[in-house]
Amino acid sequence: MKAVIFHGVGHIIIDEVDDPKIEASTDAVIKIVTSSICGTDLHMLRGTMTGMRYGTILGHEAVGIVEKVGPNVESVKPGDRVVVCSTIACGDCVYCQAKEFASCDRANPNGPDAGTAFFGGPESTGSFNGLQAERARIPYADAVLVKLPKEVSDADGLLCSDIFPTGYMGAEMADVKEGDSVAVFGCGPVGQMAIAAAFHLGAKEVFAIDVVADRLKVAKQQGAIPINFEKVDPVEQLRKRTNGFGPDGVIDAVGIDAQRPHKGPATSIVGVMETMLEKTAGAPFAVLTGNHWQKGDGPQQVLQWCVDSVRKSGVVSIIGVYPETEETFPIGRVMSKALTVRAANCSHRKYIPKCLKMMEETHFKPSTILTVFEGLENAVDCYKHFDKREPGWLKVELTPDEQ
Ligand SMILES: NC(=O)c1ccc[n+]([C@@H]2O[C@H](COP(=O)([O-])OP(=O)(O)OC[C@H]3O[C@@H](n4cnc5c(N)ncnc54)[C@H](O)[C@@H]3O)[C@@H](O)[C@H]2O)c1
Ligand SMILES: [Zn+2]
Ligand SMILES: [Zn+2]
Repeated sequence: MKAVIFHGVGHIIIDEVDDPKIEASTDAVIKIVTSSICGTDLHMLRGTMTGMRYGTILGHEAVGIVEKVGPNVESVKPGDRVVVCSTIACGDCVYCQAKEFASCDRANPNGPDAGTAFFGGPESTGSFNGLQAERARIPYADAVLVKLPKEVSDADGLLCSDIFPTGYMGAEMADVKEGDSVAVFGCGPVGQMAIAAAFHLGAKEVFAIDVVADRLKVAKQQGAIPINFEKVDPVEQLRKRTNGFGPDGVIDAVGIDAQRPHKGPATSIVGVMETMLEKTAGAPFAVLTGNHWQKGDGPQQVLQWCVDSVRKSGVVSIIGVYPETEETFPIGRVMSKALTVRAANCSHRKYIPKCLKMMEETHFKPSTILTVFEGLENAVDCYKHFDKREPGWLKVELTPDEQ
């Protein structure tokens, strides 16, 4: 079958690989109907999430049809249309029973303390082959596959695989309540979903911060107030627009590849020096030159803006991904402002039902953020456009050829 294969930092290819097989009694094999590219895949290509095994199939977002199941799979059968939870969880350990699926004790073959297991990620996450392929092996199928109601389209289901549940979790972790002011840093696909969820949970206003005009426009279409961090100082603006207080909750939907401003009032010489130091200290294996796969030059920028802008006793919710090697955080300011800080990989299995319910109740269609529809064979080119955040390249759907 065809698949998108990681061949080293800054290098992916489409190649023919063996079809996946049932390897454990709790596995399923699915035929992929549709998959997509995520900002997390970019961290791997930029080298800011290290430890990818050469030859790993990329991708962790898909809708598929079950083809085969192992003898101990009970909740799905061949022919079922399913959404795949990006995060792999056993469904049975103490964490899974508490719906903390991203903390599962069993799914990561590196052991209970190794962190979240997910498809198409580095060795530390289990080196599971991913979903940008024609077929995929799904471990712990009962916990990892969710049957899709027939009213939900493949495209809407696809967004429920990762980024809609992640955005929903981001808004929930920010404690969004009726009448709150919320700021979402990053208007990529994850940020857009966080904006939608924040409104759903009752936010009276949502500020959306980014530098990409095209993405700020999509945020505005959702009813958010766009803030371009190269035109104004986002911290100052957020304070000013919330009567000097700052938003009640702020969400980091950017992560390690954050950029610092290169022009406008938010640029500072101290910031430039700080980020130069971070650039060499954090993510030492990252790509530093060339036209593509450039890592962000302000890995701490969004965390600092979050902590600086949120009101005293407010909540900082971090859903943008940071690798375990990242150790700097403005803990002193967190202390003096009495902030609550939450950060997590998404426990998709917990949030997918909430997303499906929101879609049913409000007729929200997450698939409206899909802007590019391509065949899997064109994935390499698509990665390049998405990496550059080119206008119109907000979210790419990749569909394998009819098999
Ligand atoms: N926690 C989870 O389980 C989970 C799941 C999925 C994705 N993620 C993470 O969410 C993050 C966003 O994913 P995405 O697909 O939207 O990625 P993306 O790269 O498409 O979007 C990131 C956006 O952030 C903007 N940005 C960069 N620097 C900024 C700054 N200083 N201030 C504000 N905005 C800035 C960029 O212009 C871009 O629009 C990534 O880190 C991804 O790994 C986490
Ligand atoms: Zn993703
Ligand atoms: Zn578990």
